[in-house]
Amino acid sequence: MSVVKKEYKRVTVKSLIEMKKNGEKISMLTAYDYSMAKIVDAANVDVILVGDSASNVMAGHETTLPITLDQMIYHASSVIKAVKRALVVVDIPFGYYQSDPKEALRSAIRIMKESGAHAVKLEGGKEVEASIKRILKAGIPVMGHLGLIPQSIYKFGTYTVRAREEEEAKKLISDAKLLEDIGCFGMVLEKIPADLTKTVSDSISIPTIGIGAGRHADGQVLVIHDLLGMTHEFNPRFLRRYMNLYEEMSSAISQYVTDVKTKDFPNEEEQY
Ligand code: KIV
Repeated sequence: MSVVKKEYKRVTVKSLIEMKKNGEKISMLTAYDYSMAKIVDAANVDVILVGDSASNVMAGHETTLPITLDQMIYHASSVIKAVKRALVVVDIPFGYYQSDPKEALRSAIRIMKESGAHAVKLEGGKEVEASIKRILKAGIPVMGHLGLIPQSIYKFGTYTVRAREEEEAKKLISDAKLLEDIGCFGMVLEKIPADLTKTVSDSISIPTIGIGAGRHADGQVLVIHDLLGMTHEFNPRFLRRYMNLYEEMSSAISQYVTDVKTKDFPNEEEQY
């Protein structure tokens, strides 16, 4: 399928708003290290998210809660060195923006200054309004995140679809409007019904980026390890796998072990 789109040498927050206006879908993927970010950027992904999902896929934690600000800055500064085109957005991790707006600003400034990232993302609506406003006032672009917000997993109790009930859906719509009004440049909508995504996306001028939120979002985001099939035990309905890298890597590594054990590797040509 051909895609008509404007060429962006460097994606900015303004480009994303323009893409929405022009009906061009936005592509976003996570990356947490230099080598992966280089591949993702070269493939013309519009936004690279240094997500706090690094806590799961890089550090092996069960939730996103344990990752620290220092660790996020480490991941982000590796990613930023690789990126020439994409907008790099970094999650402010749990515990570094919830208590007060000053702390939120300090965390955002550390991310921007120490990693060189282009924007920050944080989870929640009305509850974190003051923190978002404070960060925006300092000239730092902010992306919101509504719906299933993994930093609140212990409040929800499960990773199931959010906002199926009218009351929660209404709050989400009003939070989305609030994020637009206070100046966020976009927002992630995670695991909500497709119709609700449509309602939200049609009612605001800033882009919505969906994950498990259906086809009406203005863009899509996936965790790179999921897209590549490295996390083979994670099988949500929304996930489209483009490779089975877990199997490909396992068989390559097993072959290497065999080759070493059988003295096949290295051979005459592979030595000095
Ligand atoms: O941390 C992350 O990877 C995210 C995406 C799932 C949107 O927030």
